[in-house]
Amino acid sequence: SVAYFNGRFVDSRDPVVPIDERGHQFGDGVYEVIRIYNNKPFMLEEHLDRLYMSAEAIALPFREARESFKAVIFELISRSNLTDLDVYVQITRGMAARNHLFPDCPVSISMTAKPFRSISAELREKGAKTILHPDERWTNCYIKSLNLLPNILAKQKAHEQGCLEAILHRDGKITEGTSSNVFVVKGGRVQTTPLSRHILAGITRMAVQRVAAELGVDFQEKYVDLQELYEADELFITSTTSEIMPVVQVDGKTIGIGEPGPVTRLLQKHYKKRTE
Ligand code: PDD
Repeated sequence: SVAYFNGRFVDSRDPVVPIDERGHQFGDGVYEVIRIYNNKPFMLEEHLDRLYMSAEAIALPFREARESFKAVIFELISRSNLTDLDVYVQITRGMAARNHLFPDCPVSISMTAKPFRSISAELREKGAKTILHPDERWTNCYIKSLNLLPNILAKQKAHEQGCLEAILHRDGKITEGTSSNVFVVKGGRVQTTPLSRHILAGITRMAVQRVAAELGVDFQEKYVDLQELYEADELFITSTTSEIMPVVQVDGKTIGIGEPGPVTRLLQKHYKKRTE
């Protein structure tokens, strides 16, 4: 599939990144995953705002003008010959002999374009199982950094137990999923973890907030503890790639009636409209 590296369109399997690159030696970079529905990037401006914010937060000198950067994304989409795809964008501190100190070199920009990696319709219909896992990450999870080791370890653990996601908790409260935000529905009210340094400000989370406002569904930012999680009427997770995904089990315990609930379904329906 088509990819991009520092000014060139390449094949995603081409060996274009040298060994001495900060991205794979240090995880010294930031990224975004953007979904394109029928040739239209979904909430592109919000993704770019977050990318520039993440870069700034790690003092990465990413000075590419927004319009020219967008032009590269659109050219990648066009070259992919796909209409529905996921674009991965990564900015690193560049190519320099390994040294912890910041190098004096240009940043590296890479992108890939891949067909949707979607959750099966069957699982979406049934709802997902999840596990709980301590949040072992650092305290700057609002930055979409390449350092994902705690995330992948927890997600793999979930997978090995037949689950889709690991829901992370810190100090007795839910933070987020390893690659998603977590929402509880209680008494018709949608609740999710307040934004802080401990979670990523999900773009899908933002979309859910907007959809809820449109529908007059009560949306509340609130710390949810483990007891409240188990006692939820409905539970769902959100991300660019999983959209709004119902959750029906946590650590083997059934949530609500054990199937996707009416508020989740309503939000899903209206979210889908925004992607059309
Ligand atoms: N992950 N929290 C974490 C830790 C994430 O990695 C993600 C997204 C989200 C949801 O954010 P958004 O709605 O903007 O996709 C929350 C992406 C999809 C990934 O790593 O593949």
